[in-house]
Amino acid sequence: MTAEGRLLTVVAVFFVLFYGNRFCHAANSQICLMCNGTVVNGSAVWDFCTSSAGQIDGRCCLQTDNTSGAVHITGLDVSYCNLIVVEDLSEASTALMIDLSFNPISNLSDLVFEGFSQLFYVILPSNLTCPGGNASWEKTEVKGEVRVCEGQINACNQTGHISWDCPQNSLCSPYGPGFFACSCVESFHGYKCLREGEFPIVEVFGILGGSTILVSLVLWVTQRRKAKAM
Ligand SMILES: *[C@@H]1O[C@H](CO)[C@@H](O)[C@H](O)[C@H]1NC(C)=O
Ligand SMILES: *[C@@H]1O[C@H](CO)[C@@H](O)[C@H](O)[C@H]1NC(C)=O
Ligand SMILES: *[C@@H]1O[C@H](CO)[C@@H](O)[C@H](O)[C@H]1NC(C)=O
Ligand SMILES: *[C@@H]1O[C@H](CO)[C@@H](O)[C@H](O)[C@H]1NC(C)=O
Ligand SMILES: *[C@@H]1O[C@H](CO)[C@@H](O)[C@H](O)[C@H]1NC(C)=O
Ligand SMILES: *[C@@H]1O[C@H](CO)[C@@H](O)[C@H](O)[C@H]1NC(C)=O
Ligand SMILES: *[C@@H]1O[C@H](CO)[C@@H](O)[C@H](O)[C@H]1NC(C)=O
Repeated sequence: MTAEGRLLTVVAVFFVLFYGNRFCHAANSQICLMCNGTVVNGSAVWDFCTSSAGQIDGRCCLQTDNTSGAVHITGLDVSYCNLIVVEDLSEASTALMIDLSFNPISNLSDLVFEGFSQLFYVILPSNLTCPGGNASWEKTEVKGEVRVCEGQINACNQTGHISWDCPQNSLCSPYGPGFFACSCVESFHGYKCLREGEFPIVEVFGILGGSTILVSLVLWVTQRRKAKAM
């Protein structure tokens, strides 16, 4: 790839990471049609949607941003969809509420919710655990056949974590249950944000393994190639 090509790739990744959610989430998202029917009157997502002046579209609750006009998915109800595998919900990464209950889901990876930083209410079949583990939620409880995970805990705000979770010259921000993202502060970039000038932004993603303070995944998204060259 040419230098221009590499720069374009970096710019493209930047836009996908930071603006993708705003531009891509139009009405008629595939995920809203991923199974039959619509959000049912009286369900948790229905109640949330009507009380937040949202609009039901298939299995989604949509909200239009007053200023930008962009449409976001704020709720997703895929209960009773006969789902066995749940792999990609990324279209709904702006969701505040997700209902996956009454599905024979065999296995749900924490990675499905990476980037879901606004998620505050998840309903699951009771034999699944809350994404990121109990430590990622203010309250978790089993109510009959469902498990409710409520109030996402900010992974950047756990006592003792802040000092080392993100490298110097970077800021930590929540990035979904059990995840955090580090972005280099202005003018720093590159491996561990050690270089100054040139590229403005680098993101580092991490996952916290429940209550054990374990960083098991660190990806240097935009600057991997540069880092290797260092
Ligand atoms: C969905 O709707 C189609 C057509 O109406 C039907 O054939 C199919 O059985 C339905 N699937 C479920 C899971 O209800
Ligand atoms: C939803 O259900 C309530 C009571 O069950 C009913 O009063 C209301 O009209 C329903 N709303 C819609 C849009 O169907
Ligand atoms: C956006 O629209 C809603 C409903 O139309 C209104 O209640 C709210 O005040 C508006 N917000 C802004 C920032 O204009
Ligand atoms: C949960 O139970 C359903 C049956 O109700 C089963 O199909 C599914 O594999 C189970 N999932 C796990 C993670 O045990
Ligand atoms: C669940 O999925 C993960 C990754 O997709 C896999 O590593 C793991 O073995 C699976 N667990 C079960 C019980 O299927
Ligand atoms: C997580 O919380 C649920 C509900 O409060 C509880 O049943 C479960 O044992 C907890 N799991 C762990 C690993 O603490
Ligand atoms: C951080 O955690 C403390 C106590 O756990 C809480 O009072 C505070 O509001 C939290 N701050 C943020 C930004 O979440």
